[in-house]
Amino acid sequence: MAESQRAESESSGNLTEAEIAVHWKEEEYFVPPPKFIGQANLTDPAIMERFGLDRFPECFREYADLLTWDQYWHTTLDTSHAPFYKWFVGGKLNVSVNCLDRHLPLHRNKAAIIFQAEPEEEPPQVLTFQELWVRVNEFAAVLRDHCKLKAGDRVTIHMPMVPELPVTMLACARLGVIHSVVFGGFSGEAAGRRAADSTSKVLITMDGYWRNGKTTDHLANLKASLDASKADGHEVPMVLVWQRYREKMLSTTPLQKGRDFLVAELLKEKAGVRVPPVSMPAEAPFFLMYTSGTTGKPKGCQHSTGGYLAYVAGTSKFIQDIHPTDVYWCMADIGWITGHSYIVYGPLALGTTTVMYEGVPTFPDPGRPWRIAQRLGVNIFHTSPTAIRQLRKVGPDEPRKYDYHFKHMTTVGEPIEPEAWRWYYHSVGKDEAVIVDTWWQTETGGFLCSTKPGIDRMKPGSAGPGIPGIHPIIFDENGHVLPPGSQKAGNICIQNPWPGLMQTIWGDPDRMVRQYFAKYNKNPKSTDWRDWPYFAGDGALIAADGYYRILGRIDDVINVAGHRLGTKEIESACLTVPHVAEAAVVPVADEVKGRVVEVYIALKPTSKTPPNEVAQKVTLAVETSIGKIARPKTVHIVPDMPKTRSGKIMRRVLAGISNRMDTGDITTLANPDVVETIRKQVQGDAPVATKKGPDDIARFGKVD
Ligand code: PRX
Repeated sequence: MAESQRAESESSGNLTEAEIAVHWKEEEYFVPPPKFIGQANLTDPAIMERFGLDRFPECFREYADLLTWDQYWHTTLDTSHAPFYKWFVGGKLNVSVNCLDRHLPLHRNKAAIIFQAEPEEEPPQVLTFQELWVRVNEFAAVLRDHCKLKAGDRVTIHMPMVPELPVTMLACARLGVIHSVVFGGFSGEAAGRRAADSTSKVLITMDGYWRNGKTTDHLANLKASLDASKADGHEVPMVLVWQRYREKMLSTTPLQKGRDFLVAELLKEKAGVRVPPVSMPAEAPFFLMYTSGTTGKPKGCQHSTGGYLAYVAGTSKFIQDIHPTDVYWCMADIGWITGHSYIVYGPLALGTTTVMYEGVPTFPDPGRPWRIAQRLGVNIFHTSPTAIRQLRKVGPDEPRKYDYHFKHMTTVGEPIEPEAWRWYYHSVGKDEAVIVDTWWQTETGGFLCSTKPGIDRMKPGSAGPGIPGIHPIIFDENGHVLPPGSQKAGNICIQNPWPGLMQTIWGDPDRMVRQYFAKYNKNPKSTDWRDWPYFAGDGALIAADGYYRILGRIDDVINVAGHRLGTKEIESACLTVPHVAEAAVVPVADEVKGRVVEVYIALKPTSKTPPNEVAQKVTLAVETSIGKIARPKTVHIVPDMPKTRSGKIMRRVLAGISNRMDTGDITTLANPDVVETIRKQVQGDAPVATKKGPDDIARFGKVD
């Protein structure tokens, strides 16, 4: 925080991070069930010594040794350009070989992917390792021969949850082509902007898919994608279109000859073609995953080939407890990092069966996930607090109606309330399953904090300690360490690098340093990793037992249903509506989704358009620019924004009003009177609230 800002926030009554005392009831422990421990991959507590800081970085050999290398590496970690690290230097490998070819001799006819369509009458589709390998080879032949793609080229994939998505990703991996998967629910425009940023040579999309009992015309997004990419200075020359059903098209959008191609047509000539895997250097970029940051533009986190795969294989084995004999189901979407690491690459690298579900968890009723688990014999289940809250709300008694048995369950993406955790444990897990609450990020490739499922006790609402090889630390704003049990929240950082950490921000290495490392770096020229703690951007505290409790984002990012949305990104979309003079976006606590978005708008003085109409236009602009996930719960058209004397909008005050919380000291504002006007408009005549809200909301916009 700059000095002037600090002075401003202190004078307006804001506390610094370190001063925020968190009074939080300690929850009781739950012990891992003996049956789980009896079969667990990781039961030796000495793992923490094996992965101690004094064994760093060589400890991570253990993860890399889970992979099949074409050429073994000579240097475990190269820090000469810290914080741009290179892992397993000199090593060569191919990801598709590790996920497919190497499993064929023993597991050729074992299920690799079981796909469950949303319509319940469509039976599960099983792709054996052999079948997945065949499809990946044939599609890789299309990418190589028809699209002329080669190692290092970028491809944007805007697809729903269908098996063709991992086929596409693994085909890219076979050629060393860098894929950038954009969540299928994002708008065409969002996909196009990402395609431009990565200068993708091909956009791969799909005609349609099932969602909530209806088919969606996904291809209708194509025009917006190509237009947005062009507007950002990049024309995508080729489009490939998969079909949900080969015999019919779910979209009415016409294809443009010479530019758009149906994959089914291109595959006709590729039957039986085998594509030799391209042996890639361990440190070659493997994929990009865009995520929201503090500025308007999403950033492309660049993940490496060898380090990333080693890390997701290791954490899938030890934290997810995946054995090749398990049936593993992660209900996330592959379009997010969770899906990349823990639906596709981690589980397949270990040769297990990974389940994919196309649709909405509560369709046609809240018993659906448990019927799928029962039918497929799922024994490891992985989902988000939002899904847990939703399923609990609409079908609290459903799980017991079905005969399934989980040994292991995961929660990921947002803090989970202890009450929701307990329902997950007792009702979904039937008191038989161990739970891991895994804290991590798009940037980190894999888990950072979690209990070790066969070793540690669980504590509802706490992620747990750093996992093996990850050494978290909490700093206050001045760089002092907050020790265990101090009851103060601070900024959680990781002291050391790890193989899953992104390599850079695509095309913007300065941003990587600025955003993740500058804050606590003491010497920008240092090549010693000890000088470069990784700054995660989350507030957290550490209890006396060494367990971390994650409180939420400290930057201008809103975590909606476990998905990160940048406030600046949403505000930019609002400002595209001609009548809008100023826009401010704040998070609002929501019973199911954790947080949702609310928008405040000040109109241009010349605007004659009725406020309702502007509000509708703003909502539409947000949906078009980002997607329905960012749709504001409410758009408030207000006479003016609360501002500091230097003219900055005080989002903290607006967040306070939206959440019926204390707005803090407003006497130093340039226009304090407007606060009461807005409060009345939003809350009616209810008395002024004084309660403190969720931590991320209380601190939201702290630098405003
Ligand atoms: O605020 C943290 C929250 O989600 C953010 C990362 O979001 P994303 O990059 O989209 O990745 C989501 C899947 C890993 C974090 O900065 N978060 C993630 N996991 C947890 C969490 N908050 C609390 N508890 C968690 N287990």
